[in-house]
Amino acid sequence: LLRDNVMRNIVLVGFMGTGKTTVGRLIAEKTGMPLVDMDSMIVKRAGKSINEIFAEDGEPHFRLLERELVKELSARSDQIISTGGGIVLNPENIADFEETGLVVCLLADAGSVLERVRHDSARPLLAGDKEAKVIALLESRKPLYEAIAHKIDTSGRPSPAPTAQEIIDLY
Ligand code: S3P
Repeated sequence: LLRDNVMRNIVLVGFMGTGKTTVGRLIAEKTGMPLVDMDSMIVKRAGKSINEIFAEDGEPHFRLLERELVKELSARSDQIISTGGGIVLNPENIADFEETGLVVCLLADAGSVLERVRHDSARPLLAGDKEAKVIALLESRKPLYEAIAHKIDTSGRPSPAPTAQEIIDLY
């Protein structure tokens, strides 16, 4: 059938702290598919942290690195891809990924996000007044996340396991 020729990736999209990497790791364990974490890959290649990339090269440069990596990963199949929260800012990223497999958006309310990023200092967009930044950024990006066909609300879920299973069942 046609489906045999279609590339099959699982792409996890969503705001910071919605559990993309944790859920991705679980799906990888359960399916045996390799996990590609975009942020980790960008950090490894750049030889510096996300904070350093933002501070030294600027956010537009980071978005360019993300865009290039999306194109590269879209040419491959059978991988779990954990994206950065800002991947939705460029609709071409989502369009490319939609062609390569299942794109799932993890949603979470501001309270759940804050709980998960409370002790984190590796996210430059949340530096300073974390609560205010989460609320404002979540609000402004909401339509972009809502636009993705497959969504799972992880608000208040204490464990990533049911979310991972739900995605495997969708796949
Ligand atoms: C960002 C999310 C981060 C990272 C960068 C920018 C964003 O990834 O790519 O700090 O714009 O939402 P996580 O979603 O994994 O935190």
